[in-house]
Amino acid sequence: MNGKVHVMDHPLVAHKLTILRDKNTSVKDFRELVSEIGMLITYEATRDLPLTTCEVETPICKTTAPMLKGKKFAVVPILRAGLGLVDGVLRMVPSARVGHIGLYRNEETLEPVKYFCKMPKDVAEREVLIVDPMLATGGSAEAAIGFMKEYGCTSIKLMVLLAAPEGIERIQKSHPDVDIYCGAVDERLNENGYIVPGLGDAGDRIFGTK
Ligand code: PRP
Ligand code: URA
Repeated sequence: MNGKVHVMDHPLVAHKLTILRDKNTSVKDFRELVSEIGMLITYEATRDLPLTTCEVETPICKTTAPMLKGKKFAVVPILRAGLGLVDGVLRMVPSARVGHIGLYRNEETLEPVKYFCKMPKDVAEREVLIVDPMLATGGSAEAAIGFMKEYGCTSIKLMVLLAAPEGIERIQKSHPDVDIYCGAVDERLNENGYIVPGLGDAGDRIFGTK
């Protein structure tokens, strides 16, 4: 069975994505919006975290109340653009560890090239959320998920702002155990592998490198 695709159905996400798409949005606003949408998608991507109960004393009485079961969590941005989402995830899960995978797309072959990898020691025991704003051909996410599996990770989710149908299909084929959480699914890829209508080059817009 394929992994599930969770498309955010929320007016705040829809509104913020529209501003993100606008080519006139400033680097400062773009960066802030990426972080905010990241936070909102994290809310959905953590919906199934297990709970336990604990004793707490309110000003009124003692009671038993829910608490996260202490399941270990790691967020893994795909460099560079994935860095823009880390802050939003950490605002929701402040104790998460952060691993980094450096990949760039070869602009001719569109295939990912790895240049960096640094993980928490116990990453195999953690729930892993791989983050990247764009799922285009799916090559980068496919490779990143493959690397995490080589580290021994068994619980992996992928979070993106925009996904192309082509990228979703590729991940579902190669990693059917991985659920995808995305802000929206766009129409298609263009001949250069860019998402249409998309938002352009996410890394360049987050870091102001163009
Ligand atoms: C972008 C994006 C993804 C990748 C998506 O990164 O952030 O990592 O492309 O494309 P794919 O699904 O076809 O692999 P890019 O390679 O431009 O590097 P950057 O993050 O350094 O800008
Ligand atoms: N990478 C981006 O940053 N944007 C796209 O549309 C596709 C890949």
